[in-house]
Amino acid sequence: MIVLGIESTCDETACSLVKNGKEILSNVVASQHDIHELYGGVFPVLAIRRHVDAIIPVIDEAVKTANIKLEAVDLIAVARGPGLIGALLVGLNAAKTLAFALQKPLIGVNHIEAHIYAALMSQDAQPSFPCIGVILSGAHTSILYINEIGDYELISQTVDDAIGEAFDKVAKVMGISYPGGPKIEALAKKGNPFRYAFKTGHVKKRPMDFSFSGIKTGVLYAVKGQNGLLDNKDTLLESDKSNIAASFQRIVFEDVIKKTLKAAAERDCKSIIFGGGVTNNSRLKEMFTEQAVNYTLCWPSFGLSLDNAAMIAGLGFHQYKKRGASDDLFLQPQTRIHF
Ligand code: KG4
Ligand code: ZN
Repeated sequence: MIVLGIESTCDETACSLVKNGKEILSNVVASQHDIHELYGGVFPVLAIRRHVDAIIPVIDEAVKTANIKLEAVDLIAVARGPGLIGALLVGLNAAKTLAFALQKPLIGVNHIEAHIYAALMSQDAQPSFPCIGVILSGAHTSILYINEIGDYELISQTVDDAIGEAFDKVAKVMGISYPGGPKIEALAKKGNPFRYAFKTGHVKKRPMDFSFSGIKTGVLYAVKGQNGLLDNKDTLLESDKSNIAASFQRIVFEDVIKKTLKAAAERDCKSIIFGGGVTNNSRLKEMFTEQAVNYTLCWPSFGLSLDNAAMIAGLGFHQYKKRGASDDLFLQPQTRIHF
């Protein structure tokens, strides 16, 4: 079964053709970083306009690269949420149009669930179910208990900033452009991770939840002084920036590892599946590998960790097989979806 997947939840317009849930025939991603880097984060109206411009060329390119005829597609899968409403509508309308024109079934999938599925598409370690899922992206930070694909229980999540958002905001404070994650990782390689004693937040009565907004303020004070008024980002020494990046990164990752391992021990799980853009970070992988020695760790490959449509097509294949029925053409976007 060949599935055409479409992704447009945030700042990537993507289309991919995937055979039988795993074999990627094409995976085209048009990123919008060039427009959003001016604003330190995603500017929704500009994102929507760029999706409108990009969606048809991206679909065309994905079909051409896969070297098949559009008529050979068996199913259209689309990320129906969570995400920016206008952005979702662009992908959803493209998917509905294709489904209607080709008279093929349509399936709307959850973007966050697809991030977890992405790790299962790689050829590396495969998890044993039930297992723990960890989503670390620009918009989400969650730990899940996964019985099987499609059967999840939310264990904990962030109560404020997502982890990727914290990387992006910390970068902005230091005058580094969006997206900050990869640049903070590069800076951190040269820094002392124990130079600054930043703290992640503790959520009262929900000790497994995350809170990253306080650490961002801690970094702000380290850069701009205790009263936050000094404009130091341009005069800050490179070594200070590196030390701040390394300390911030170590402390947020330690928080994630501690809570993930606690969840795995409490639920007696031996495998952990990761998803989301922050899982691109090689220090995160090293720290997990050092500390989670008795677990099978399943990471998405590089091309599948950031937003992409292969994960949407892959998950869509399984959902359609399980449900055996198409969504109708009134399928609505969902800006928020809870597990
Ligand atoms: O999963 P994703 O593409 O988008 C969402 O669904 O949110 O994740 C994007 C996020 C951004 O916040 C970006 O800064 C972060 O992932 N990111 C990283 C790295 N690469 C991307 N964070 C830390 N280290 C990285 N190497
Ligand atoms: Zn995402």
